[in-house]
Amino acid sequence: MKHTIITAALLCSLTVSAQQRQEITLAEGWQFSHDRQQWQPVSVPHDWAIAGPFDKKWDLQVVRIEQNGEKEATEKSGRSGALPWIGEGHYKTTFRVPAPYSHAELVFDGAMAEPTVFVNGKKAGYWAYGYNSFRVDATPYLIKNGDNLLEVDLQNLEESSRWYPGAGIYRPVTLVLTGDSRLDRWGTYFRTLHLDDHSAEVEVTAAAQGGNAIEISLLDDKGHTVAAAHNDIDPSGQVCTTLQIDRPHSWSPESPYRYMLRIQLMQDGETVDEITEKVGIRTVSVSADGGFRLNGQSRKLRGVCLHHDLGPLGAAVNKAALIRQIKTMKEMGADAIRTAHNMPSQLQMQICDSLGMMVMAESFDMWIYPKCKNGYARFFKEWSDRDIEHLVLAHRNHPSIIMWSIGNEIPEQWDKKAVPIIERLQGICHRLDPSRPVTQGMDRVDQALASGFAQAMDVPGLNYRVHKYQKAYETLTHGFLLGSETTSTVSSRGVYKFPVAPGAADSKEGRSSHQDGQCSGYDVEFCSWSNLPDDDWRWQEDKPWVIGEFVWTGYDYLGEPTPYDEYWPSRSSYFGICDLAGLPKDRYYLYRAHWNSQQHTIHLLPHWSWGNSRRDKGNRIGQITPVYCYTDYPEAELFLNGKSQGRIKKITAATDQQPLGETRLDRYRLRWNNVRYEPGELRVVVYDEAGKACGEQVLKTAGKPARLKLDLWTQQGTHLRADGQDLAYVTVSLTDADGTLIPQASDQLRFEVEGAGTFRAVCNGDATSLESFTLPTMKLFAGQLVVTLQAARQSGSLKLRVVDDQRQLEQEIVIPVE
Ligand code: GAL
Repeated sequence: MKHTIITAALLCSLTVSAQQRQEITLAEGWQFSHDRQQWQPVSVPHDWAIAGPFDKKWDLQVVRIEQNGEKEATEKSGRSGALPWIGEGHYKTTFRVPAPYSHAELVFDGAMAEPTVFVNGKKAGYWAYGYNSFRVDATPYLIKNGDNLLEVDLQNLEESSRWYPGAGIYRPVTLVLTGDSRLDRWGTYFRTLHLDDHSAEVEVTAAAQGGNAIEISLLDDKGHTVAAAHNDIDPSGQVCTTLQIDRPHSWSPESPYRYMLRIQLMQDGETVDEITEKVGIRTVSVSADGGFRLNGQSRKLRGVCLHHDLGPLGAAVNKAALIRQIKTMKEMGADAIRTAHNMPSQLQMQICDSLGMMVMAESFDMWIYPKCKNGYARFFKEWSDRDIEHLVLAHRNHPSIIMWSIGNEIPEQWDKKAVPIIERLQGICHRLDPSRPVTQGMDRVDQALASGFAQAMDVPGLNYRVHKYQKAYETLTHGFLLGSETTSTVSSRGVYKFPVAPGAADSKEGRSSHQDGQCSGYDVEFCSWSNLPDDDWRWQEDKPWVIGEFVWTGYDYLGEPTPYDEYWPSRSSYFGICDLAGLPKDRYYLYRAHWNSQQHTIHLLPHWSWGNSRRDKGNRIGQITPVYCYTDYPEAELFLNGKSQGRIKKITAATDQQPLGETRLDRYRLRWNNVRYEPGELRVVVYDEAGKACGEQVLKTAGKPARLKLDLWTQQGTHLRADGQDLAYVTVSLTDADGTLIPQASDQLRFEVEGAGTFRAVCNGDATSLESFTLPTMKLFAGQLVVTLQAARQSGSLKLRVVDDQRQLEQEIVIPVE
């Protein structure tokens, strides 16, 4: 009976508001299969490969990486993550279209890869590029008032990616139900024409089928209408109008204020369709005079490049995971991300809008000339126009996006005959969105200057090669340039290598291959084509015409384990400022000290647990163990067991004389290079410009392992939402009785989860680990790991118990799910 009542009520409400569109996320009720024989229930977003097992045989590539300057092909085992993402995948589900609706559209935010969409057995759509959004009109194939079968076929070819691309329907699918008269969401365009403290003028375009008028209104965050316009629809189905806003709130990373744009399609005075979008009022410009400006204010982009994977969740997008990423980067002081090297998800852009993070939205890693055998080059000629169109149409209303990128290190840079491709792709961006500049990341600086590539871009973006900045600046007439990709420093969280000396980690003679497949946490190892953070900052600080940078990368990502491309096992990157589990490496604090002007940073490294006595294995007693302090303060004194190791200052001068000399690091780091280790207490006291002591940090030598410490992160702080999607991240650390981390611990832990949620994943940030992310057991790496739990749809409480069988330790945490 209950069921009948609900159905009747629903029908009634549908009849009353027949014109109101429904946008339904198709998340549950999917079936997945590799062979169409055996099916398993899944929810979407889904990544079929992330459970592994890791194996070097998956996508084993024997290749020469031209971009890395390699002369011959060698075996690259973990290049695309060593996960089973190659092959076919099939998905199916059903959906219903209730009687009042006559039109159904399916919006895919991305499916990896080459998705073919069938509705009731008929091919309804296809898209070649796995990273792009596309829409499928399901209307011609619908069964009215019955179950409609939706099937999606995917295929991933080997050697189609330079990193882990993920596999499956890894971004949401939305069913949009409307009547015949309807608005087109991608036909909506909002841009700021003018902004000052007193007023703003914005332009709104809307597109519709049917109807005869469109009402446009802009509401503030309290729901009050601040501007509105009524427009008759012209024969093209479009309206374009301007609105004036008094005392506008502008959008910026520091104050990400958003308005609600409401568009109503009218037919003879009645609303027949309505869409809303959150928008921001803000202007973006680049010029020789003032560089990059947001809302008229010059600022340097403090950006990080991010790959799309979410570590142990794989490519499957998740709101909480993205919020954790963006918040962590913001807290470091970053104000921009680059979606390297592909179209972002809607979810990620919405989060950047709401949290305040600027975005360079990228598109391609290659054009016609392939970087890997089966990459996007197969599609470029036929698809690139449509791909750029979809990128811009799907995302142009996000205030966070400040720039489009039409490519990364496109091999054609040397070829002046390829300049018309720039004109074409950049031209599409300009046509669909005159409000933003367009860039691309160029690594072959001399060739790109000679071919006219760099000249043709709105924003010349250089990847690495700071030593070419001056020449590029002088050759170009722009009067500015962007560090579109910088740094590529490599490190492993909590791992330190001795002796400490800056150098290229991938050079054959150099430190390249530490025996353990790790890189040094002292942040002194980089790639032969790249450099250290310090090298970029000199240019960013000293040259007004360098408009900012995007560091490679904010987080470690799956695949591309440079400098261990030929080493097994190694299956994820070392470039991250944070590791694959999302835990900050020391480098995080180097950036924080330099970028975060709101909070002070005092961070000492390395850990100070190199043995309590000479009997301890691997102890460093009496050995040189350099100490670095990452701080925004200019000066500090270091004490080891109360004995001063010297009071030192950052050295701004003289770094230019020795561009590759070690002293250049003394501009941004405080380094005590000759400290001899002894157990005990390491203490740093920092001083401001006036010589006043302003704070300290203390590191202690750890005693015996005594307990497991659990630290919780959720987007709400201490609880989870009972929405079936929300995630809790629990950082597990093994400590001594006083809470000091045991930094070399690698204990095998087990996880038991009960109550209102499930175990989702675990990750320890070790690039050489072959333990599955999806089984409830893992070794600690450098004393830590992170467990991810997923909330149920029912409220209650969710308990995680972490067990260390070897030491007979355990610890519990209970998380309310509301
Ligand atoms: C760049 C490239 C990135 C990544 C990086 C590693 O050349 O654009 O995708 O491969 O090198 O240093």
